[in-house]
Amino acid sequence: MNRRQAIQTSAALAGSFFVPKPLAQLFLENGMTKADFGPNFKWGVATASYQIEGAWQEDGKSPSIWDSFSHKRKNIKTGENGDVTCDFYHRYASDLELLKALNFKVFRFSLAWPRLLPDGTGKPNQKGIDFYNRVIDKCLSLGLEPWPTLYHWDLPQVLEDKGGWTNRDVVGWFSEYTDLATRSFGDRVKNWMVLNEPFSYTTLGYMLGWHAPGRKGMKNYLPAVHHSVLVQAEGGRIVRANVQGANVGTTFITAFAEPKNTEEKHVRAAKRFDALMNRMFLEPTLGMGYPTDTLPFLKKIERKYALPGDRERMKFDFDFIGLQNYYAVTVKKSLTTPVLWANEEPAKKRGIPADQLTTMGWEVTPEGLYKILKQYGAYPGIKKIIVTENGAAFPDVVENGGVHDSKRLRFYQDYLANVLKAKREGVPVDGYFCWSFMDNFEWAEGYKPRFGLVHVDYNTQVRTVKDSGKWFQDFLKK
Ligand code: NOJ
Repeated sequence: MNRRQAIQTSAALAGSFFVPKPLAQLFLENGMTKADFGPNFKWGVATASYQIEGAWQEDGKSPSIWDSFSHKRKNIKTGENGDVTCDFYHRYASDLELLKALNFKVFRFSLAWPRLLPDGTGKPNQKGIDFYNRVIDKCLSLGLEPWPTLYHWDLPQVLEDKGGWTNRDVVGWFSEYTDLATRSFGDRVKNWMVLNEPFSYTTLGYMLGWHAPGRKGMKNYLPAVHHSVLVQAEGGRIVRANVQGANVGTTFITAFAEPKNTEEKHVRAAKRFDALMNRMFLEPTLGMGYPTDTLPFLKKIERKYALPGDRERMKFDFDFIGLQNYYAVTVKKSLTTPVLWANEEPAKKRGIPADQLTTMGWEVTPEGLYKILKQYGAYPGIKKIIVTENGAAFPDVVENGGVHDSKRLRFYQDYLANVLKAKREGVPVDGYFCWSFMDNFEWAEGYKPRFGLVHVDYNTQVRTVKDSGKWFQDFLKK
């Protein structure tokens, strides 16, 4: 079967979701080129330490909350863990060469706090510092820009034992860690992100117990939220103070919230959903405080966990906001979701067949990215937006040495078209990073969801560039 036939066959299998045309032609039809995004637009891929590095107890690294959590097999749907994952710790050089060959310019990765400070604070681990020096220097030698995130969910377990994100001391612990990281790498690294999706790790890890550290309830959630908001601003200040010429941002997960219909109760439910997911971490940073008008339960943070002066401490004028987006949601009023009284209307109920969803069960909603970019673009305090994550998991198979991931390719093209539309309408969006460079450990879902532009065979560690990766390679070439 030649390439064209393979694409058409997979398209046919995918049903109406995919218009069966050769990929190059499809792209010509929507007419986008790299040049349309402008010469300074940043094209990158995103990854995270726990999801790709492996080497979980090598060279002095201490366990993170994700090591502890995933070692309890029942916590991960597939019973797997990130002990080895993509083995990036040992394969970083060839992986970065592959990234370079795909014509991307930015490598977003995260620093593992327990590699740099195994005790959480105190004595630095030189071998951990050396590892990131090797990664950074390799990037620079290849002409790739290293864009580290300081916190992508792998808190040192020793700090969780002292209360983790629920303990206000986390602000001091994080400051010490950020100071070490920026002093160690800030001579060569100018682009930094403070937190990755505080909404996700607080909600899933401290409210619902589905992610590490597996804690539940409002008594854990509210302090974890507040301390994350403080940390994100304090981290920004430290990066700016320590790194000459820093470009500092922080990232937020987003989902445009559409009410189920125009009934007032659903409209109000969608507003609450939006405030929780899209505003709660952003607005305090912009000096607007928590959205307590829409979410009265957040007043408890102000009453119980905030100290005088916190409103000021929560503020920081980030150089850019990292907007992460996968899907939009349709929201309805719900009596079974205490506190929020809102829930998603499942795709099935709206007549969307299961085969049009991603492996994560998420809907493909390219316009949702446009809408949320417009929403964020309307905040006067946001100077610049970078889409620091966007992508999709589909069941990929290696066939005759290739991976014909037509659904993912279509996904990227449609979402990118919406980024361009927003940009043309004046939203200051200046970069786009794919999630993810390669398949990796998808948290509580294990290795089943494959998000990569590059397929990873976890038995052999063989990398195979998928059609989507080849498409980017071609799109991004000069
Ligand atoms: C959000 C997270 O930042 C990343 O770690 C995760 O793998 C992707 N989105 C996909 O769920």
